[in-house]
Amino acid sequence: MMPGREKKITVPAIRQKKGGEKIVAVTAYDYPTTLFADAAGVDLILVGDSLGMVLLGYPTTLPVTMEEMLHHTKACARAKPRALLVADMPYLSYQITVEEAVRNAGRFIQEGGAEAVKLEGGEPVAEVIHRLVSIGIPVLAHLGMTPQSVHAFGGHRVQGRTDEAAKRLIEDAHIVEQAGAFAVVLELIPAALAKQITEQITIPTIGIGAGPYCDGQIQVLHDLIGLVPGEPFKHTKRYAHIGETITKALQQYAEEVRTGQFPTEEHAF
Ligand code: KIV
Repeated sequence: MMPGREKKITVPAIRQKKGGEKIVAVTAYDYPTTLFADAAGVDLILVGDSLGMVLLGYPTTLPVTMEEMLHHTKACARAKPRALLVADMPYLSYQITVEEAVRNAGRFIQEGGAEAVKLEGGEPVAEVIHRLVSIGIPVLAHLGMTPQSVHAFGGHRVQGRTDEAAKRLIEDAHIVEQAGAFAVVLELIPAALAKQITEQITIPTIGIGAGPYCDGQIQVLHDLIGLVPGEPFKHTKRYAHIGETITKALQQYAEEVRTGQFPTEEHAF
């Protein structure tokens, strides 16, 4: 952990960062990556439902279940991060009724060890956000390209490009703020629109593919460190090439086993 950054990050601490030091957020899906992310001094760790695509090989986030999300949230919570730990509510865990949303969000707090939940959408989920916040469950909202609506969008595409769509996103940002969300993720929207939203609302905006004017940034850890196959997305920067490092290390291991260089007496009993 970085010196001077030992104090536990809470929901009010994230809110207070509005307009100040940028919020640094990243996903993590298990115990070791939570430890590594926390050691880097990030402010917020999201157990994202992106784990469905990144870890489990699903084509979208839609097949991810509550049980899968709880399994990974518990693993992350065991790392006891200093960063705020937020669990992502999977598809159909909060859209059916407010009662189901309360039960499922409560499970993330009670069983999963999360400190807040994230859910996607604006006006249609405002009642859910309001209810969760009213019973003490902090909510991180998520607007723009919300992956659980991938079929409606016709793919993972930039949103808010037309005047009408931009107006709706601005309205939704005000609505989730009014409903009590402590911050809002803005995904894949034009930078100028993210700037407008950031200037208009009093809660922090945390962007991913939403340009530099948000109050913070969030990225998928595996994208940042090259632990996914293929080329990085336009909105991601690759800071390491861990996938290549793994393959190279295992090629060397295979070579050494085949040639008898490993194990040596040093590794034997
Ligand atoms: O599931 C996820 O990882 C997310 C982030 C991309 C914000 O929702």
